[in-house]
Amino acid sequence: MTKKLIVGNWKMNPGTVAEARRIAGKVKRAAVRLEHTEAVVCPPFPYILPCVPRRPVGNFCVGAQTVSAEAGGGPHTGEVGAAMLKDLGVSYVIVGHSEQRAMGDTGVTVGKKVKNVLEAGLTPIVCVGESARDPEGAYLENLKGQIKECLGDMPKKYGREIIIAYEPVWAIGAKEAMAPEQIYEMSLFVKKVLADIFTPEAGVKTTVLYGGSVNFRNAPDIMRVGKVDGLLVGRESVNVSGFVELLKAVDQI
Ligand code: PGA
Repeated sequence: MTKKLIVGNWKMNPGTVAEARRIAGKVKRAAVRLEHTEAVVCPPFPYILPCVPRRPVGNFCVGAQTVSAEAGGGPHTGEVGAAMLKDLGVSYVIVGHSEQRAMGDTGVTVGKKVKNVLEAGLTPIVCVGESARDPEGAYLENLKGQIKECLGDMPKKYGREIIIAYEPVWAIGAKEAMAPEQIYEMSLFVKKVLADIFTPEAGVKTTVLYGGSVNFRNAPDIMRVGKVDGLLVGRESVNVSGFVELLKAVDQI
């Protein structure tokens, strides 16, 4: 059985490196006691190194929140390359989060970032999701288009190495998560699109996460009824007691 994957996206939090260390330390101590779940924390770049354990810790990994679309080094002021992240001890990279897309990421740049992450030997967590729902259901075609735009040209060999985080934009930072029954439908839809792009096997086996207003209370139902392989958690990931509760609850499912 593959482990459930719980990814904490800290966004532009917390305010100090001391607080980052404290949160990561608590998550690490909780992670070693998990049996069927892997915990990933994705701090802002300056906190990555202080959060990476000196020796490997069971069920605990560090991720990054974005990466440069540029490959290799060079004159790219302010950019951080995938190989640099790998060198720091990062395992996963979130790519194409809607907040990054709102700041300029496009299907093309997301595709380049995914390739750079894979070529560095890291695992991309590619965020996709509709910004609104229309009664006619055009959002399904839009979502399919969004996935094809960033992954359509990806070599087939990468089919199983990409993680998808389905995050309906309207459910991010909202009061409530999407209903678990709908999450189930949407995760099946995402898997079908992946089967079209890659192989039927990739469609079945790809890890699909749900993200958008997940907390320790709604996480068990989202996992059970939504039948996703894991969660991408924003606000609750820097509320460390809630995040640890969430990890324990999901581990027991
Ligand atoms: P949220 O954020 O859990 O605060 O809704 C999720 C995300 O943006 O990944």
